[in-house]
Amino acid sequence: MPEPAAFQAPRGTFDVLPPRSRAYERMVATFARGVEGAGYGLVISPMFEDVRVFQRVGEATDVVRKEMYDLFDKDTPPRHLALRPEGTASVVRAWVQHRPPLPFKAWYGAPSFRYEAPQAGRYRQHHQLGVEALGTEDPDLDVEVIGLLASFYRAIGLRRVTCKLNSLGDTECRPAYLEALTAYLEARAGDLCDEHGTHWRDNPLRVLDCKRPACVAATADAPLPMQHLCGPCAAHLARVEDGLRAVGVPFTEDPRLVRGLDYYTRTTFEFAAEALDTAQNAVGGGGRYGGLVEDLGGPATPGIGFGCGVERVLLAAEAEGLDLTGGAAVDVFVVDTTGGTAARDLATALREAGIAADRAWDNRSFKAQFKAADRSGARVALVVGPDEAGRGVVAVKDLRDKAPQTEVTRDEVVEHVRKLLA
Ligand code: HAM
Repeated sequence: MPEPAAFQAPRGTFDVLPPRSRAYERMVATFARGVEGAGYGLVISPMFEDVRVFQRVGEATDVVRKEMYDLFDKDTPPRHLALRPEGTASVVRAWVQHRPPLPFKAWYGAPSFRYEAPQAGRYRQHHQLGVEALGTEDPDLDVEVIGLLASFYRAIGLRRVTCKLNSLGDTECRPAYLEALTAYLEARAGDLCDEHGTHWRDNPLRVLDCKRPACVAATADAPLPMQHLCGPCAAHLARVEDGLRAVGVPFTEDPRLVRGLDYYTRTTFEFAAEALDTAQNAVGGGGRYGGLVEDLGGPATPGIGFGCGVERVLLAAEAEGLDLTGGAAVDVFVVDTTGGTAARDLATALREAGIAADRAWDNRSFKAQFKAADRSGARVALVVGPDEAGRGVVAVKDLRDKAPQTEVTRDEVVEHVRKLLA
């Protein structure tokens, strides 16, 4: 065992090394293929923003109030900045700044930072794959966005995820609903959990989502947003539900689904992985936001999107017995006991032909090089010893099916390997 390192990754963060990192690569590639196939383009925005960009997403939420990593830079006077806790505000800020044409359909894959109490599935740096679509209230866009997330889970092989759907109403129906909820909670404030007993007024909706037994019991008959939707919001929800049924995305209504950010209006949704512990089983979620673009200084423009936690998806995949790290890093490994020039030249020729190849270093023993070849996971080993070098040939060994070794000339080897791998 090596000595414990003098420095470790900060609490709540971790390094992702190969082969595990291959699962990240695969998820990003699968996600990109899916959303780009639906007309979403990649947006890369700074990892930090003016703190006010994120304050707009929820002055009454834990994400902003308690968990934001904010800092002052070295300008005079110093600027108050914050590391991105989520992707939506950054994309909206970027749209307001540059005004690309609407509808604007964007995707991103980026780390997010939240000062949380670290535990399995909850980290201080996590990675989100997400989309944001601005510029239309069309309920079919909700269906598209939710469907893209469902397709992503399917594409990487997750089976046991369920989609929960709710509507939180809009500026028409929300005020009257909040009045009804406030009156209800006021009469029962003494029965709520410790946290909500004192703080429920900051964000009454969050009480509906509280899993503590006191709040669950006290809110058993609470008015729910879905029961108080105005006509247009109810019609929007009905059309989204029809659409999800039509395109084959199973969902259940969850009238208590309240997401952890303040900007949502109308459709909200969350995907839960059944294989994970309920406290951290949200593998993705999102919804519509009717007022965020205006809040960030733009013209009234509706938006919808989701964020999907890469680490949680990986945990869920592992819990379902899936191996997303599969596949070897290279196809071919070159073993050269003649000093290394053959390995250098063969590896270069293979890579130039688009074949992933690696080699051993330092002119090590045949045995040590073969061990490295096995460890690499390569399917084919090319072997050049003094005998092969003298005759201008390369020995070809299939490492998987243990077939007898064959020999080809140096000129033919790349073509031969290409056929072997095909
Ligand atoms: P969110 O639900 O806060 O939504 O985060 C999205 C996903 O990120 C979660 O479902 C979860 O998978 C993952 N996640 C969040 N926090 C952590 C954490 N501390 N550790 C590990 N994974 C985590 C948003 O961030 C919204 N921006 C989604 C959205 C986009 N809404 C509209 N557009």
